[in-house]
Amino acid sequence: MSDAPAPPRLRDLPLDDRPAALGLSDAQIAALRAGLSPAQAERMIENAIGVFGLPLGVAQHFVVNGRAIAGVPMAIEEASVVAACSYAAKLARASGGFTAGSSAPIMIGQVQLLDVPDVEAARARIAAEADALISWLNEDNPSTRSRHVRALRLETRILAGDPPMLIVHLLYDCGDAMGANAVNTACEALAPRLEALTEGRANLRILSNLSDRRLAWATCTIRADLLATRTDAALPPEAIAQRIVEASLFAERDPYRAATHNKGIMNGIDAVVIATGNDWRAVEAAAHAYAARDGRYTALATWRTDAAGNLVGRIELPLAVGIVGGATRVHPAAQVALALLGVKTARELAEVIACVGLAQNFAALRALAMEGIQQGHMALHARQVAIAAGAQGEWVERIAAQLVAERNVRLERAQALLKQQTPL
Ligand code: MEV
Repeated sequence: MSDAPAPPRLRDLPLDDRPAALGLSDAQIAALRAGLSPAQAERMIENAIGVFGLPLGVAQHFVVNGRAIAGVPMAIEEASVVAACSYAAKLARASGGFTAGSSAPIMIGQVQLLDVPDVEAARARIAAEADALISWLNEDNPSTRSRHVRALRLETRILAGDPPMLIVHLLYDCGDAMGANAVNTACEALAPRLEALTEGRANLRILSNLSDRRLAWATCTIRADLLATRTDAALPPEAIAQRIVEASLFAERDPYRAATHNKGIMNGIDAVVIATGNDWRAVEAAAHAYAARDGRYTALATWRTDAAGNLVGRIELPLAVGIVGGATRVHPAAQVALALLGVKTARELAEVIACVGLAQNFAALRALAMEGIQQGHMALHARQVAIAAGAQGEWVERIAAQLVAERNVRLERAQALLKQQTPL
């Protein structure tokens, strides 16, 4: 059990009181409320005509490597994702929370070389010159010299076929940045030198989004006795655990199921990636390419039982996220999101995000293997309908419960129930 005090029950507080309950300062609350301004949007993209909003929620109960996180910010339009994450994190917390790790933040840039007269000889010349090229990038070339990121080494690959290609991989330690700009600049700077060395022609010079040297992983244990909810208490815990393991095996063996299993994981991951101003398309591309790395698309997270019958989950995926640069720096809400997470490095951010993916996957599999996801969705939807009908305080839950019991989650019914205002 984690010793961290239980977090405040956000859902019981009015919307306006929640940021302060999470410990945010007045300035942070103001930044959160202001969000991205049209003027900032104008500086970010072309032909800007405004800004597009998304709900920003906070998942609670996360303990990662022994550290309790005030709140995990999630920007997402899909109901039940934030609640599902919080629920899973609460169960994991009872066993000490999540254990997470990550590799060094290494990205790969690619230079595609064509018309190389002798590919093997060119490869040998690149290997012989690699150290000199790396130190040129790091020490001498003004556009790539940096205190924050570092070129590490070159690798070469030959792609057989017509035409044959010599591909150079430039490995970069991106530190706390996502690194796309630095890597692209370095690839473009390096290309003429590679052309001279190989007597070939450089075509593409661009970052690879299969960032498989920049991995994050997480594990957690969910105690078997915590698996049952009130509605499925009749089923023994080991039967519930078994169903979740069977659900995991389904995704591990079948790409049709794996795509949906991983979509659920990305529900959690993308929401944090977006809230922190990171490039979620890059994270998506990497995740799915990594899921197919062995030639068959499979599950990014898996579940098994341990000797005591508890569920043990594990996730591993590439997570190219930064805490400096890009929208992370520009977007006022992204700054608040990072402050809430309390992460000091890009690696730490990636580790928390991996935990969120695992939490989301557990909650989805548990619901799917038991009551199905529609029941939970319906309950949340019913709350929203009750609020839209004008219900307040305890009447929100009362009317929502009645709508669900009647299987009639409609605004007119909620309004009629509210008009009666008699104990249901
Ligand atoms: C829905 O957005 C996500 C799920 O389909 C994930 C899953 O099936 O594992 C519930």
